Amino acid sequence: MTSVLPLTDPAPPLTAQLSSPELAVIVPTFNEAGNVAELVSRIESALDGIAYELIFVDDNSPDGTAERIRDLSRDRPHVRCHQRIGRRGLSGAVIEGMMATTAPFAAVIDGDMQHDETRLRAMLDLLRSGAADVAVGSRYVDGGGTGNWSEDRRRASELATRLARRMTRLALSDPMSGFFMLRTDVLRARAPRLSTQGYKLLLDLLATPGEPLKVREIPYVFRARTRGESKMDSKVLIDFLELLLAKSLGRAVPVKFILFSMVGALGVVVHMVILSLAFQGLDLGFGAAQALATFVAMTVNFFINNVFTYHDRRLRGWKLLPGWLSFCAASAVGALANVGVAVYLFDSFGAVWWASALAGIVVGAAWNYAVTALYTWKS
Ligand code: GDD
Ligand code: MN
Repeated sequence: MTSVLPLTDPAPPLTAQLSSPELAVIVPTFNEAGNVAELVSRIESALDGIAYELIFVDDNSPDGTAERIRDLSRDRPHVRCHQRIGRRGLSGAVIEGMMATTAPFAAVIDGDMQHDETRLRAMLDLLRSGAADVAVGSRYVDGGGTGNWSEDRRRASELATRLARRMTRLALSDPMSGFFMLRTDVLRARAPRLSTQGYKLLLDLLATPGEPLKVREIPYVFRARTRGESKMDSKVLIDFLELLLAKSLGRAVPVKFILFSMVGALGVVVHMVILSLAFQGLDLGFGAAQALATFVAMTVNFFINNVFTYHDRRLRGWKLLPGWLSFCAASAVGALANVGVAVYLFDSFGAVWWASALAGIVVGAAWNYAVTALYTWKS
């Protein structure tokens, strides 16, 4: 006999009694064991009366963060722990958390209490009323702030913010914010095109093409971290540069980019000739020969780009000097990366000299194009 479900139940099952959440709060964590309990209780008081769920996305932290979260969630059905094994990446963690909810709205907030959870309610009000599709916690609008940051960190953040704003043309005071709330359908529509690496999910989201979004900013003061350590390191910076490059190259006038690449290809020839002369002919060390070749190729490239690629903005007379200097300054960073990559491949992996050099050139060239378009030949 097959069993048949009764047509009417005296009471709906427990799960059906719980209303589905209106808001999902996503907390990415890596080694935040000492912070999660306090964060949960702060969010509980901040969101009292709102139907929400709290989704932690932990990248298998060695300090046992995930276990702490599960302890907390045992008597809190609205708290979940999504533990990822063998993966790292802040953006990817946040995207996955947001994809795991059916709530119409989702927020992301850091797990170390540096973001002000009491601002979540104001963000939700903006989304509910339709006044915004994305509500961004901002340190750089009236009422916001960066607390007691060191001078260095403040200046680095300012520089990154300025670069990001110029390259993406976003009219947003804090595009680097890691604290924001948005409509989850917007996230789902753009998710396939987002980078899962790095810290700049918001920038990536807003710079990705799609329906025009209403973005509003809510001021907050960035707090000091009291427990655990920041995971921001040089790799995060490289990820950030990659993201900027991807976004700026994608928007560049194609003609200019093609021309710049052609000049670059010519530069490769110049580079290889000088390199083989210096390395094989003059018996210079590989690093020194590579550096010399880079410098010569850089200067030749500047002059050719000036009359060819940027003929419409050609620098003349005394303006050639600051132009050449800014080109060299920009290229110096590219050249450092170039020499670094090449020497690293050559020394550590025993790669052939010309392949090492080529790899260095590719890395340097991408950087050079993006930066000189902005600073050397600005329109
Ligand atoms: N799951 C996961 N995986 N979480 C991570 C990872 C990762 O690879 N890396 C960092 N996190 C978590 C941290 O545990 C923390 O909860 C949050 O992401 C932010 O990391 P921090 O290392 O504390 O970042 P921060 O304070 O230096 O940077 C903050 O400010 C920046 C602006 O200055 C963040 O809010 C950034 O998003 C923001 O851009
Ligand atoms: Mn932090």
